[in-house]
Amino acid sequence: MTGPEVAALAGRELRTRYTAADLGVFTREEARRFLPQGAGDPQTDVVLAWELLYRLEPELYDRLASAERLHPAVLGWLPCDLDRIAEVGAGTGRLTMELIERGRHVVAVEPALPLRRILRRKLAGAGHGDRACVTHGFFDHLPLPDDSADLVVACSAFTPSPGHGGDAGLAEMERVCLPGGCVVIIWPNHLNWLAARGYRYVSFPGPMSVEFGSYREAVELAEIFYPKGAGQVRRLGKPTVPFEVLGLNPPRDLAFKVMAG
Ligand SMILES: C[S@@+](CC[C@H](N)C(=O)[O-])C[C@H]1O[C@@H](n2cnc3c(N)ncnc32)[C@H](O)[C@@H]1O
Repeated sequence: MTGPEVAALAGRELRTRYTAADLGVFTREEARRFLPQGAGDPQTDVVLAWELLYRLEPELYDRLASAERLHPAVLGWLPCDLDRIAEVGAGTGRLTMELIERGRHVVAVEPALPLRRILRRKLAGAGHGDRACVTHGFFDHLPLPDDSADLVVACSAFTPSPGHGGDAGLAEMERVCLPGGCVVIIWPNHLNWLAARGYRYVSFPGPMSVEFGSYREAVELAEIFYPKGAGQVRRLGKPTVPFEVLGLNPPRDLAFKVMAG
């Protein structure tokens, strides 16, 4: 995007931020998954708006994800001292940076090139470039061998929709997981869908807040991502905002399946 185009977007909420003209940013492979009918409108389909965000304003997405931290007990629940970990839909690494501590080698699969670039930069900056590999791929076609990871995990990325996982995506995650290993969906939606496929659910209690870098950032990001809560964020006058104020379920849960040994 050009400077004036970026300036025109300042403060505009996600639902009206992009138009059908922006869909040209998708690669052919992405369009096949995200535009199965061949067309779409990000102003009526917020899932499309999120996919455009990852490609047009990846740093903005990274600022949001950095503020929405995972419940420490979710991270504590994950197995550690593993040999190989695969993460799918890794984004800019909210989870990846934690997985590095738990495995000798981490493969982070991410379809959006701009997010892969940010993740690579973060891993290199933290001195982990040699133990992590950031690669292109989709849930339904993982570039990984059978039985190649002790833990296969996705955070805030998997949904039952075919473009974002679905049965084909879950089958791929399970194919890649070693017998006795674990497939984990963090911050899941559609719990019944996962339960019907043998996934058990764990949720951790306690208050949770989105931790923005500053009050100014809280207002800016709330206007874009949680417009209904923006007034309340202004009234609170703080950089730390409870998830419920923003109308968001907190990242305090996961669904998992241990693969038969
Ligand atoms: C909400 S972001 C979450 C990113 C990261 N896991 C995190 O917790 O911050 C959703 C991610 O799923 C990725 N994604 C979308 N469709 C996908 C697909 N079909 N296969 C794999 N990843 C996908 C997006 O590119 C994006 O990085």
